[in-house]
Amino acid sequence: MRHPLRGWAALLTSTAVGLALLPGAPAAAAPAVPAAKPAPVAGGQSVDDSLFPEIGGTGYDVRHYGIALTYATGGTIKATTTIQARAARPLSELTLDLEGLSVDRVTVDGRRARFVRRDTKLVVTPARAASGRFTVEVRYHGRPTTHIDPDGAKDGWVPSATGATALSEPVGAQTWFPNNNTPRDKATFDVAITAPKKLAAASNGELRSRRTRDGQTTWRWRQRQPMATYLSLLAIGRFDVYRSTVALAGGRTIPAWTFVEPGLGSAKAQRDLLPKVLRFSEKQYGRYPFSATGMVIQDLGVGYALETQTRPFFDGVPDDATLVHELAHQWYGDSVTPRDWGDIWLNEGFATYAEANYAAEHGGPTTWQAFQQAYRANGPGSDLWSPAPAALTNPADLFGSPVYERGGLTLEALRHRIGDEKMRTLLRAWARQQAHGVVATSDFIALAERTTGENLGAFFATWLYQEGRPAGYEDAGVTRVAPSSGSRSRHE
Ligand code: TRP
Ligand code: ZN
Repeated sequence: MRHPLRGWAALLTSTAVGLALLPGAPAAAAPAVPAAKPAPVAGGQSVDDSLFPEIGGTGYDVRHYGIALTYATGGTIKATTTIQARAARPLSELTLDLEGLSVDRVTVDGRRARFVRRDTKLVVTPARAASGRFTVEVRYHGRPTTHIDPDGAKDGWVPSATGATALSEPVGAQTWFPNNNTPRDKATFDVAITAPKKLAAASNGELRSRRTRDGQTTWRWRQRQPMATYLSLLAIGRFDVYRSTVALAGGRTIPAWTFVEPGLGSAKAQRDLLPKVLRFSEKQYGRYPFSATGMVIQDLGVGYALETQTRPFFDGVPDDATLVHELAHQWYGDSVTPRDWGDIWLNEGFATYAEANYAAEHGGPTTWQAFQQAYRANGPGSDLWSPAPAALTNPADLFGSPVYERGGLTLEALRHRIGDEKMRTLLRAWARQQAHGVVATSDFIALAERTTGENLGAFFATWLYQEGRPAGYEDAGVTRVAPSSGSRSRHE
């Protein structure tokens, strides 16, 4: 999260303006203003997310997480998380998210800090105000808990047959490390996992080293591009580990690390498909935004796959569409990340649309045929159309069909309206211009309007914000969209 101008910088600006306006103030006397030392403030305990009002803290911006976690057979952990952050103004108090576990010690810039636990909040009071760049170190231990989402799904730390896997969407990251648990505060990560040597340990990004000592192996992973906490992954257990190199566009090669639960076979078809889908996606959406890839494939029993950054997780060997979906998220969701959970359709609508695109290019129906089929099969009163994808009020709707299917149909309706060429330009520009950033739906609408030169306000108002099936597509089958942007068909 970035708000450098909200704190003291904004204050200084207004002071300077005030001085300049003072009657009789010497016009050129500026240099005498001393560097102001702003009074410390307590950081806020919420980022006011529209669906998860309890998550996140304000007043600081995390730059890097260093997580060193030791897993013991039996399911307990002992860990240290080191957070490098920056404060917009000095902080007398700052709040992290942490659920369960016992905190042993907190330091800020090396000095012992006081802390209190309140529900899922860890409130830290530094001995001296934390200012500028500062470091918080939290030592903790215990048996991590599984978080249950508003929709009843499991999230966070999930014990498995041979170890444990942590899946962090939407809020599960707080069950295994203290953090600023909002998608708007991305940071780089170093994760070192130590476990009995017969187990493997996966996380995001590149494997930097793997060393065994006294029967324990430490796996050091580094995620060099910014990552939202909800995309962080940890998987400890018996896995077959497959290492390979993937050739991408422009002669670039990246390492692939794939972890497969032995009982599931070797997942050879999926491991072979992965590079093909990455290259297909680069052609569609532009450069792959990360420097490593791979998969984690296991029977965990959570009932969903997840786009964990660089290395998606699959609950069982995935079908092609699921692999395509999770890889599309690397562009849409992982690199270009919504700042608020209410904009989740920017993830799921895009990844669902990517599935349709891939199918259309691989012998399936065209995206327009798929659109018509879904439109006809779901009458105006169908659950598919409500709530509108960008107007969620209930966090239990986060992973519902309005977000996924209607979200994807919104993009196909947009393509139908603006034409193939502009749609392609728009999807690529969105991924490139917002790479590694945090975004809102309004940013996408603005880019769509800039790309097309059209006012698309009414279109998006209907498709994204208005409950119920958008009207006007009942007989849309008689019109084929023009292949170029030359002519425009309107179907609102
Ligand atoms: N974001 C995941 C995907 O689309 C799905 C997901 C994550 C999910 N958590 C969930 C689905 C909980 C249902 C319930 O790939
Ligand atoms: Zn998804």
